[in-house]
Amino acid sequence: MTATGIDEAKLEQFMGQFVGDFGAAMTAPLVMIGDKLGLYKAMADSEPVTPAQLAERTECRERYIREWLCQQAASGYVEYNAADGTFRLPPEQAMALADENSPAFIPGAFQLLAAVVKDEPQITERFRSGEGFGWHEHHHDLFEGTERFFRPGYLASLVESWLPALDGVVEKLKQGARVADIGCGHGASTILMANAFPASTFVGSDYHDGSIQAARASAERAGVADRVSFEVSSAKDFGGGPFDLVCVFDALHDMGDPAGAARHVRDVLTEDGTWMVVEPFAGDSIEENLNPVGRIFYSGSTMLCTPASLSQEVGLALGAQAGEQRLTEVLGEGGFSRVRRAAETPFNIVLEARP
Ligand SMILES: C[S@@+](CC[C@H](N)C(=O)[O-])C[C@H]1O[C@@H](n2cnc3c(N)ncnc32)[C@H](O)[C@@H]1O
Repeated sequence: MTATGIDEAKLEQFMGQFVGDFGAAMTAPLVMIGDKLGLYKAMADSEPVTPAQLAERTECRERYIREWLCQQAASGYVEYNAADGTFRLPPEQAMALADENSPAFIPGAFQLLAAVVKDEPQITERFRSGEGFGWHEHHHDLFEGTERFFRPGYLASLVESWLPALDGVVEKLKQGARVADIGCGHGASTILMANAFPASTFVGSDYHDGSIQAARASAERAGVADRVSFEVSSAKDFGGGPFDLVCVFDALHDMGDPAGAARHVRDVLTEDGTWMVVEPFAGDSIEENLNPVGRIFYSGSTMLCTPASLSQEVGLALGAQAGEQRLTEVLGEGGFSRVRRAAETPFNIVLEARP
C-alpha cells in the first residue's frame, strides 16, 4: 500500500485486465475485416497458408494480409508455424468464424458491436437528455449483426430443445398450428420454425419496416413464403390471430410497454394457447449478473435495449438483465398467471406463459 492508499498489487492486476480487454476490443475490427473479405472462409479448410497465398486467394494485398494474420495469431484465432512461416485456422475456429450455418458462428456479434460503436455519440448525448433512441435509428449493421449473432443460438436450441420444453406445443405444430413471432427482426426464428413444421403457418411482425423487408426476402430465399408472412406492426397491435403459439425472441425488454404487449398477446391467443418468451439469461439480482455473460448483456442493454424502450410509449426500460421474477410480474400484468422457466442456455432463458 502506498501513502496515497493505492494497493500496487491491485493496480497491477487491473492493468493486466486492461491489456486483455483492450486487446479484445482492438481485435473487433479485424474480425469484421476477416468476415467481410472472406479471409476466414478462405482458410476454412484448416490447411496452412502463407500470407501471399491467402492474399492471392482473396484478391487482397499481401502486406495487409500478413499484418492481419500476425494479429490473429497473437489473438489465438489462427495458429502460426514459425518453421515455415505459415498460418492455419484450426477446425474449431473455422466452425466459429467461417461457417454461417454453425451453431457456434460468432462474426455477427462483432458486426452488432460495430453499430454500437458508430452510434455511441447519440447514446452519450441521451445520458444527459434522458431521451430514448429507437432500434430503427441505429446503423444498419445492428439489424444484420443481430440476425447473424442470434441465428446460431436459435439453430442450436429452438427446434431441438426450446419448443419441445413447452407443454403440448410440438404436437400442435406438427398437426398444423398458427404461430406469431413478434419483434421478429429479420425473421431468422420464424423461418427456422417454418422449415421444421411444414403443416403450420407463421406471422412475423416487427415495428421496424427495414427489418420486415429483409425478413420477407429471407422467407422467399428459404422457400417458405407461402406459409410465412411478415407485417410491420407493434407488439400491441399485430394482427392475423387467433394464434396457438406466440413467440418473442429477445425483444420483450426492448419494448416501451411490455405489459401492454402482453395484454394484446393474451387477446390473440387461443384458449389453450402458449406464449414462449425468450429473454437474455439473467439472475434476479445485480450481483448474480456480474460475470462475463452479464458484462456483455449490460453493455447491450445500456447501448441498445434501454434506449430502445425509453423511445417508446410508457418507456418501462426493463433492461436486458431484468431477470425471471421481474419478467414474470410484467407477464402477470398482461393477464398471464401461469409462468414457468421451460428451458435455459448460458445466454437465454425460455419462459412458458399461459393465461
Ligand atoms: C434484439 S432485436 C431481436 C430481433 C429478433 N427477435 C431476433 O431474435 O433476431 C429486438 C427487436 O424488437 C423490435 N421491437 C422493439 N420494440 C418493438 C415493439 N414495440 N413492437 C414490435 N417490435 C419491436 C425491434 O425492432 C427489433 O427488431
